[in-house]
Amino acid sequence: MAKVAAVILAAGKSTRMKSKKSKVLHDLLGRPVISYVVDVVKREVGSDRVIVVRGPSQRDVKEYIFNNRLEDAVQRQPLGTGNAVQAAGKALKDFKGYVLSLCADAPLIRGEVISSFLKYVSEKGSTMGILTMNLQEPGSYGRIVRDLDGKVVKIVEARDAGEEELKIREVNSGIMCFDAHWLFKSLKKLSNKNAKGEYYITDLVGIALKEGASVTAWSGEPATDFLGINTRLDMSRVRELMIERINAAHMLVGVGILDRRNTNIDFGVKIGADTTVMPYTFISGDTRIGCDCIIENGVVIKDSVVGDGVHIKAHSVIEKSTIGNGAILGPFARLRPDSKVGKNVRIGNFVELKKCTMKEGAKANHLTYLGDAVIGAGANIGCGTITCNYDGFAKYKTSIGDGAFVGSDTQFIAPVKVGRGATIGAGSTITKNVPDFALALSRVPQKVVPGWSKRRKKKK
Ligand code: UD1
Ligand code: MG
Repeated sequence: MAKVAAVILAAGKSTRMKSKKSKVLHDLLGRPVISYVVDVVKREVGSDRVIVVRGPSQRDVKEYIFNNRLEDAVQRQPLGTGNAVQAAGKALKDFKGYVLSLCADAPLIRGEVISSFLKYVSEKGSTMGILTMNLQEPGSYGRIVRDLDGKVVKIVEARDAGEEELKIREVNSGIMCFDAHWLFKSLKKLSNKNAKGEYYITDLVGIALKEGASVTAWSGEPATDFLGINTRLDMSRVRELMIERINAAHMLVGVGILDRRNTNIDFGVKIGADTTVMPYTFISGDTRIGCDCIIENGVVIKDSVVGDGVHIKAHSVIEKSTIGNGAILGPFARLRPDSKVGKNVRIGNFVELKKCTMKEGAKANHLTYLGDAVIGAGANIGCGTITCNYDGFAKYKTSIGDGAFVGSDTQFIAPVKVGRGATIGAGSTITKNVPDFALALSRVPQKVVPGWSKRRKKKK
């Protein structure tokens, strides 16, 4: 097949999105909208060149283009799709092959569909190809007008269409391809005498046919693959479809997803077989989850690594942390960044970890804060334990040895170290290091006054 240069149009003003940010940079399941299109044309279609057309004031898009080493083309003014493609003309001056033009705001497109389309057009040796779709409600899409033999005659934009033309259900998906040399020569011939006063790329059909060049239309399915995002409502529809697509891919490799519409797994998250994910979960960023895990409802996991056989109970929140095999967390556990939870660790409700390592088999089952701490293997942290790691100026470390037993309601005034196998009496405030196997307690001895309550009652 001939070489392919993809021209991704992103110079629209995104007015209907009502946002400070370009719509193509809005987040869609962990990545900007445009990145899906870029990925498809680069990785799946194998385009030789990828050029993004942006407006001069779209600094955010410019940054995206540079960070992703794409080619930048600037359309000075949004004078229409034909004018936008022309903006890539300088970069593609000597390019020989097909120019594939597509919109940055249609992230559901699939590589195999575009590849089949390109193959079909190039086998026919056509000068121009249009990827069309059939819609029950063709709305504002450009209508594909064919003659009695089924040959494409023109594309008419909805605003310029007559009553009969508006009834046509075959529409332009927005994806087209052209012989590069012919394209840049012909774009100069476009006029803007139409309802919008714009230079329409779709008018190239008429120009091609006048010259006797061949135009091919190829119909792609399903139409939802070509949905574009103009408003936040469109964004939510596209997101729903993308979620279903991502979740279906996980299910096909053995992940159990109980509710495929209400399980929010970002693009790129990896999950092992026989793991079950319950609804209303948000799993995002650079996250890997092993096999045989249970991720209960309402769990939030971001940029984390979860081992095999881990059970994360409802409403736990985990960020930039690692969890070893067989650990059980939650409900309502919170792992803040840089927490490392070892194998078979138990973390119960309302336990918060920050920059905390809990070694194999350690337990903190209730109402606890462990920050800037290392908890030894098999240590038991009683209910209500707090590491007092911050003095208002700096953070200090707490270290608890292997097999230590920390009684409930203990405060560790960091920096402080507790040795292996040591015991801390409940209700202690630990300010000094505790040696291996020692007992430390800082309670005031209990006083008992017999009959005190009865005497008090009488007095009153
Ligand atoms: C366009 C097509 C229509 C097709 C529809 C599919 C034209 C004239 N019409 O209509 O046939 O059915 O897409 O979604 O091509 N853009 C620029 N610069 C501009 C104008 C647009 O970069 O000056 C970009 C936009 O950012 C967008 C794309 O081109 O990514 C399409 O533009 P839009 O205005 O949405 O065209 P439609 O009216 O939807
Ligand atoms: Mg559009």
